Amino acid sequence: MSVIDVIKEKAKSRKMHILLPEGTEPRTIQAVEKIVAQGIAEVSLLGNAEEIQAKANELGVSLSGVGIIDPEKSEFFADYANQYYEMRKAKGMDPEKAAKQMKDTLFFACMHIKNNRADGMVAGAINTTGNTLRPGLQIIKTTPGIKNVSGCFIMDIPNKAYGHNGVMVFADCAVTIDPTSDQLAESAVMSARTAKALCGISDPKVAMLSFSTKGSAKHENVDKVAEATAKAHELDPELMLDGELQADAALVESVGQLKSPGSPVAGHANVLIFPDLQSGNIGYKLVQRLAGAEAVGPICQGFARPINDLSRGCSVEDIVSVVAITAVQAQNL
Ligand code: ACO
Repeated sequence: MSVIDVIKEKAKSRKMHILLPEGTEPRTIQAVEKIVAQGIAEVSLLGNAEEIQAKANELGVSLSGVGIIDPEKSEFFADYANQYYEMRKAKGMDPEKAAKQMKDTLFFACMHIKNNRADGMVAGAINTTGNTLRPGLQIIKTTPGIKNVSGCFIMDIPNKAYGHNGVMVFADCAVTIDPTSDQLAESAVMSARTAKALCGISDPKVAMLSFSTKGSAKHENVDKVAEATAKAHELDPELMLDGELQADAALVESVGQLKSPGSPVAGHANVLIFPDLQSGNIGYKLVQRLAGAEAVGPICQGFARPINDLSRGCSVEDIVSVVAITAVQAQNL
């Protein structure tokens, strides 16, 4: 069974309620029909009910079993607008702007989740990453003990010699452009949690990647990764983690034991933390294209409640998968 099939099975075991704010988007409408038919999650589309139904009719999709939430007609609208105003007034928000913002289905969805009326959100088929994540960053915020949201990929690599039978987690490949050592440390801790929750990796071994292994090169970028390693140890003393390591020292036993002797991680890493977004984003795409790996993600980690961003080029099947991932993240809270 592929990683994503295992995740779908987990999602079915306890159904979570996932919101899809891009309610009139055709691939989203086609996806919710499949999600309900497969029993992956309870789902609600957000938007104008007549427009959603008209689009579904046009696509020949049945919305039986799918919730529809129209923010502007919702009994919660005024309360959510007021909560949003209170939350943001120190940043210049006024009641009028707050009410206008709450008409945006992404903002309404985040407020619905914050008020415990749903468990997670998936969007991004038409919105950019910034527009998709900003309501979550403002309203849902981060999980206790974590200040930074990061984005990982689960890599399912045909060569089973690496990682956990070919499965690895790579981060941050999607969100934080130039992370501080604190942000890298949080990304390491959250990626290990993701490896456990979504990939069934019971013993995450986290490598903090650099172009240097244990002081072999001197540069402020290397110092940042070494500092991040120490901070991640402080955040989670039980975590199996080593750094700074070059990629070969992280992955190949003979190189790892030569360059970082006695390390439980070097040569056996199944979670790779890249030093910045350029290396992380390039790294996952290289492994996807050159090694033929399946790249599942981006998966946002660190939100207090799960929110995930789709690629605007996503397929119907991608939306089904991201909803399943979001549901399993919600189960694990
Ligand atoms: N974690 C937690 N909070 C954050 C984070 C974060 N990573 N980033 C921003 N915030 C908070 C800010 O503190 C701010 O809070 P406040 O308004 O309460 O003060 C709020 O979120 C908004 O901050 P902005 O700086 O305005 O953030 P913006 O909305 O401009 O951008 C974003 C956030 C979208 C995540 C940005 O960092 C970004 O563009 N990242 C790169 C995304 C990207 O292009 N990825 C590559 C493509 S994805 C792929 O290929 C798989």
